[in-house]
Amino acid sequence: MKRLLGLGVVALAVAFSGTAIAADGAALFKAKCSMCHGLEGQGSAMGAKMQGNEFIKKTKEDELSALLKSGRAGAAKKYKEIKMDMPKQVLNDDETKAVIAHIKGIASK
Ligand code: HEC
Repeated sequence: MKRLLGLGVVALAVAFSGTAIAADGAALFKAKCSMCHGLEGQGSAMGAKMQGNEFIKKTKEDELSALLKSGRAGAAKKYKEIKMDMPKQVLNDDETKAVIAHIKGIASK
């Protein structure tokens, strides 16, 4: 019985840490991305639309992470109709992972 209880606690801890990561991604997105990409990732005059975005869906996590770190500007820009550049983001590894998981979720909607 004691052992079962211990397992339960571990399972709970795992469940909660999973929730915490997802919550962070959403909070980070709201704080650092939504002013350009829209609260729901719907896009704006200042940032690309993320909902249904094939690039975000298909691009691997490490490539997206590199894009967030370096930003995208000048000739590298894909959306000529948006005057704004994608600015470099200052995020640690955990934050980068969480925010990428969040935008992959938005893109697959
Ligand atoms: C100041 C506005 C701004 C902010 C803040 C911003 N972005 Fe962007 N982002 C852009 C613009 C503009 C583009 C399109 C650049 C281009 O023309 O290629 C872009 C492009 C992207 C792309 C590539 C989309 C595609 O279809 O190629 C990703 C992924 C992305 N942003 C993620 C993020 C994330 C995640 C954050 C927050 C951590 C963020 N951005 C914050 C403006 C912003």
